[in-house]
Amino acid sequence: MKKFKIAVIAGDGIGPEVINEGIKVLNKVAELDSSFQFDFTYFPWGCGFYAKNRKMMDDDGIEQLKEFDAIYLGAVGFPGVPDHISLWDLLLKIRKNFEQYVNIRPVKLLKGAHLPLVDAKREDIDMLFIRENSEGEYSGAGDWLFKGREHEVVLQNSVFSRKGTERIIRYAFEIAKKEGRSLTSISKANALNYSMVFWDQVFEEVSLDYPEVKTTSYLVDAAAMLMIKDPKRFEVVVTSNLFGDILTDLGAALAGGIGLAAGANINPEREFPSMFEPIHGSAPDIAGQQIANPLAAIWSASQMLDFFGYESYGKLVLESIEKLLEEKAFLTPDMNGTSSTSDVGNRLVDLIKSLILSQNVTS
Ligand code: NAI
Ligand code: MG
Repeated sequence: MKKFKIAVIAGDGIGPEVINEGIKVLNKVAELDSSFQFDFTYFPWGCGFYAKNRKMMDDDGIEQLKEFDAIYLGAVGFPGVPDHISLWDLLLKIRKNFEQYVNIRPVKLLKGAHLPLVDAKREDIDMLFIRENSEGEYSGAGDWLFKGREHEVVLQNSVFSRKGTERIIRYAFEIAKKEGRSLTSISKANALNYSMVFWDQVFEEVSLDYPEVKTTSYLVDAAAMLMIKDPKRFEVVVTSNLFGDILTDLGAALAGGIGLAAGANINPEREFPSMFEPIHGSAPDIAGQQIANPLAAIWSASQMLDFFGYESYGKLVLESIEKLLEEKAFLTPDMNGTSSTSDVGNRLVDLIKSLILSQNVTS
């Protein structure tokens, strides 16, 4: 039997509450298919750990995580610890050390989820964002000169390497080719006259290797407008770290809200573990009340199933979420329901079980 070793960093606030439900789902799928199993190891890292130890994770944390097949992360961040510390000392440390240079964020409006646009059809909102996740505008390169003085200067540099730019664009082309969908590149070459001119040039070059993939390029400002006015133009989308960060929040709003938005941080070479997480944060305002929506965390668990090659189960988890949204009986308050976090997880596990048994899905 195959055994997948998962490192769980549930983190702060609602992190542990939503991750519990994702683990229920993964365990249920594994229980119904005798060919594989999950083995979860919990790490107590995050802001609570920081309060006691003045650090977000163990000094050899990266070394400890290396041996796992994947990382399942809730959220980190809590009042009392500056956000740039919780982000850079844990989340970004993992993304960078493990070369998780691909961030996959589905922007798909599931059946039963609220359609926020009056002029669009549900099927029109079905995008897959491939965001550069290792360099670009979030490279952390820069300086703060003459700090606090009258003539102080700050420099925040973007870094676009040929290797980094080419590999993310190529990854997106591979997905578009595999799925038989178009690929849209989003950049801003008119204003960013080095980095984005380069990005566009690399996109052109790589596209020559994929004559079967239909391509489009938009400036980021136009893309933001078109995502609202004509979302069906976007199928697979590739863009830089900053633009992807902003546009996928817009995407989350288009596709049912923050309670449904998931993201995978992938190291495609599988040299290091990849990391799966809901996009939302630790939501300190509702933490500990069992009212957080676990569906984003569960969607990211379905991305993990895809990543391990169990796409039929990944799809089935999404179908179960659609059923849950359509029946409307088990929803958390953010979706106008009255159910608790674990009620939603329990119902979903039941739906998964009956779908697997009725469809006879196997790996
Ligand atoms: P947030 O995503 O935690 O919350 C924003 C709003 O959405 C809040 O009103 C919250 O109650 C609501 N919300 C979020 N997730 C929800 C869920 N699953 N169900 C129901 N409602 C939900 O973003 P915010 O408030 O800006 O950040 C809070 C903390 O989380 C900060 O310390 C921030 O740095 C951290 N953060 C961590 C992230 C990560 O670990 N990947 C990502 C974003 C923020
Ligand atoms: Mg973001």
